[in-house]
Amino acid sequence: MIIIKNGTIVDPSQGIHKIGDIFVDNGRIVDKAADESNVEIIDARGKYVFAGLIDMHVHLREPGQEHKETLLTGTSAAITGGFTSVACMPNTAPVNDCIEVTRLIFSRINETALCNVYPIGAITIGLKGLKLTDLKRLKSAGVKAFTDDGMPVMNRELMVKALEFSSNTGALIISHAEDKDISGSGVINDGEVSAKLNVTGIPAEAEVSMIKRDIELLKDIGGRLHIAHVSTAGGVNAVRDAKNRGLNITAETAPHYFTLTEEEVITKGANAKMNPPLRTMSDVLAIKKGLADGTIDVIATDHAPHHSDEKALGLVDAPFGICGLETALPLGLQLVRDNVITLDRLIELMAVNPARILGIDKGTLKVGADADVVIVDIDKEYDVDVNKFHSKGRNSPFDGVRLRGSVYKVICGGRVVNI
Ligand code: DOR
Ligand code: ZN
Repeated sequence: MIIIKNGTIVDPSQGIHKIGDIFVDNGRIVDKAADESNVEIIDARGKYVFAGLIDMHVHLREPGQEHKETLLTGTSAAITGGFTSVACMPNTAPVNDCIEVTRLIFSRINETALCNVYPIGAITIGLKGLKLTDLKRLKSAGVKAFTDDGMPVMNRELMVKALEFSSNTGALIISHAEDKDISGSGVINDGEVSAKLNVTGIPAEAEVSMIKRDIELLKDIGGRLHIAHVSTAGGVNAVRDAKNRGLNITAETAPHYFTLTEEEVITKGANAKMNPPLRTMSDVLAIKKGLADGTIDVIATDHAPHHSDEKALGLVDAPFGICGLETALPLGLQLVRDNVITLDRLIELMAVNPARILGIDKGTLKVGADADVVIVDIDKEYDVDVNKFHSKGRNSPFDGVRLRGSVYKVICGGRVVNI
């Protein structure tokens, strides 16, 4: 048994915010020390104790792109960042668009993953946007949601069918909201920086118009819709409107969208290139407002590791994406220090809500829950060094940046995982 002693426990799932002890036995949270012998004591005095964080949007690249990341290195990065559960996107090679691939991913998870991993299935075969996958079979094989993330579902009829399936079964549909007719071959946000660097821009409208299309479909068809990586003020407003109309919609953003602006690209180049792109200060402010007022439900990282050789291709040709798992928590804690949100709200955004949306019994320190726990020294400062990442990816705009908030220990499934 493990006793985590004298930490400040913050568990919004129970409305708890107080100093106390957490008892772990047989992989679960228990209410007291049953067996005083064989006890491992973790002194958490001065530290914070949360339910293990949950990242519902990561790219772990296995199978097929193991030069970028593997289930082992990606989950090692997750644990390092304080995450005990992640949901992995289907844009692997092959794509997770049939149960054979889903089964392969599950077997690799069982063999190598260091934390809980929940595969997400594709909406269309090969993410090509032409033919629906067998959503029913994929769901029975255990995928937790459906998305073509990385690509939008441009074809309205296919999105209608996905939402019909969602409406009949309760399955979660995640929208990578991007109108390709607007974003075209854009590289970074369409604005001052794209003009200055003379590269093609991705207008905010590419995101906003697709969010609005999906909201209208949701209104007509029903189902459960989650908007991935919201990056624009217009996107936040559209989701807020939809919620006010009582629609069954949730949304996420990523730490870079509330921390950085398009200006970052000038100094960081391809390491600040992701899709959707970094936007403007007014977008950053709108996202912060959305996090505070409940419009945005989740902070997810969109962890998207790429090989250094790929990122070295330059701003235009490098692939989209940055590593997120190992920097998300300190960036979230900055919102708390800046009085944008409370610490309790941060844990809602990073554990309670993603668990509820994915439909997994996690994100809580309730007695009887799986013992997934993170202990955090929220004031410890350190300089990010991408060469020390557990991820294979080195692509982060936060390299060399001083961050505050460090993961002290992680317990996953009742076991202390070494970091
Ligand atoms: O930046 C991104 N990277 N955005 C996406 O939509 C896909 C992702 C990836 O797979 O690299
Ligand atoms: Zn993604």
